[in-house]
Amino acid sequence: MAFFTMEDLKTGNPLIDEQHRQLISIVNDLLSACRQRRAEQFESGLAFLRYYTAKHFFDEEVLQIQYGYPGYAAHRVRHDEFKTTIRNFTLELKENGGNLEDRVASYIGEWFVNHILTEDIVLARHIREGAKIAISA
Ligand SMILES: [Fe+2]
Repeated sequence: MAFFTMEDLKTGNPLIDEQHRQLISIVNDLLSACRQRRAEQFESGLAFLRYYTAKHFFDEEVLQIQYGYPGYAAHRVRHDEFKTTIRNFTLELKENGGNLEDRVASYIGEWFVNHILTEDIVLARHIREGAKIAISA
């Protein structure tokens, strides 16, 4: 069963939406591993999420610079907060072992829904409007 679907999270920007599609799948797998207490999948899922978000956030930030997005600095702060939190979860997991599943699941679930539905949607709108101006000029 999926925890998130693209229908909930669609921004209308093809690059962001494709990467979000991948992210939703990674997040859903990780949330399943959390709920079912599958330790190996939890650890590998967390590592893969960390890798994929680094790539996705970088691509999103490049787009923001290309399109002169005025919310770039604030958006980047949100990405950096997420990366720091996931890095800290990873360190805690290595030092102390398990029992992080509930905290990780609730942080990731809330962060993604809030971030995509509020901040990424505003960014996608800015990019779409910028593209229309470029085509009509
Ligand atoms: Fe973002």
